[in-house]
Amino acid sequence: MKLLEKKVAAVTGGGSGIGRSVALLYAENGARVCVSDIDGEGGKKTVQQIEEAGGEAFFFKADAGKAEDNRKMVEATVEKYGALHIAFNNAGVTGPQALIGECSVEEWDRALRINLSGVFYGMRYQIPEMLKAGGGVIVNMSSVLGKVAFEGSSAYVASKHGLLGLTKTAALEYSGQGIRTVAVGPGFIQTPMISNNLSEDEVEMVRQMHPIGRLGKAEEVAELVLWLSSDKASFVSGAYIPVDGGYLAR
Ligand SMILES: NC(=O)c1ccc[n+]([C@@H]2O[C@H](COP(=O)([O-])OP(=O)(O)OC[C@H]3O[C@@H](n4cnc5c(N)ncnc54)[C@H](O)[C@@H]3O)[C@@H](O)[C@H]2O)c1
Repeated sequence: MKLLEKKVAAVTGGGSGIGRSVALLYAENGARVCVSDIDGEGGKKTVQQIEEAGGEAFFFKADAGKAEDNRKMVEATVEKYGALHIAFNNAGVTGPQALIGECSVEEWDRALRINLSGVFYGMRYQIPEMLKAGGGVIVNMSSVLGKVAFEGSSAYVASKHGLLGLTKTAALEYSGQGIRTVAVGPGFIQTPMISNNLSEDEVEMVRQMHPIGRLGKAEEVAELVLWLSSDKASFVSGAYIPVDGGYLAR
């Protein structure tokens, strides 16, 4: 019996990086997966990779920062696969890179809308379906920057900290009804988010902040997310779990 046999999962931001790795691993472990992303090309590529590996998935184009898109994504998943048991709320953006006193208000609002409100919007529609299914698991994508700050990234840091409050509140409200809610906190992971936004010098600087001596791989985060999403983590709820090569040990 596979770890996620008979489970239905939804992954936001499933068209790249960590989201793609998690979607692939969910499917490899028996789940049927809704791969959601604002980027159609990336999302469809993930579905293609899942199908080529013998798994089952479909793509749903959605802007995680829009409540209505989240509602439709959950609806489409339940319509296609009959239920929703697992949600990985992963879609996120780096947000404005500026000191607070110089930060664009519009860019701040956009980052908070996608990274924080977007996860609330997802949970708002995922939870009623999980209650109908008799329980479920919600894994929210935070970061080490959900625990400590990083100069010049106030919107990202604030949104990832905010997710921890949302995750803990959901755990209080729904753990008793069979829904576990957890947050994961990766260190810096080699994905397009890093290669598109950091210079070589900046990558070297953040590499040195990881006692393990390197950046992480998306697959290493996916292993943790898979475990948390499975019944093996049956007593884990409301927690923040780092996967950070020792970043927070400093
Ligand atoms: N890479 C890192 O170092 C790192 C570390 C900690 C946390 N994270 C978090 O992990 C998550 C995934 O990041 P990644 O590194 O895989 O980046 P990535 O850029 O490779 O993937 C992000 C995906 O999210 C999608 N996306 C962006 N905005 C969206 C929106 N409004 N609606 C739907 N989809 C949207 C993108 O199209 C992309 O497919 C993010 O929340 C990020 O903050 C990343």
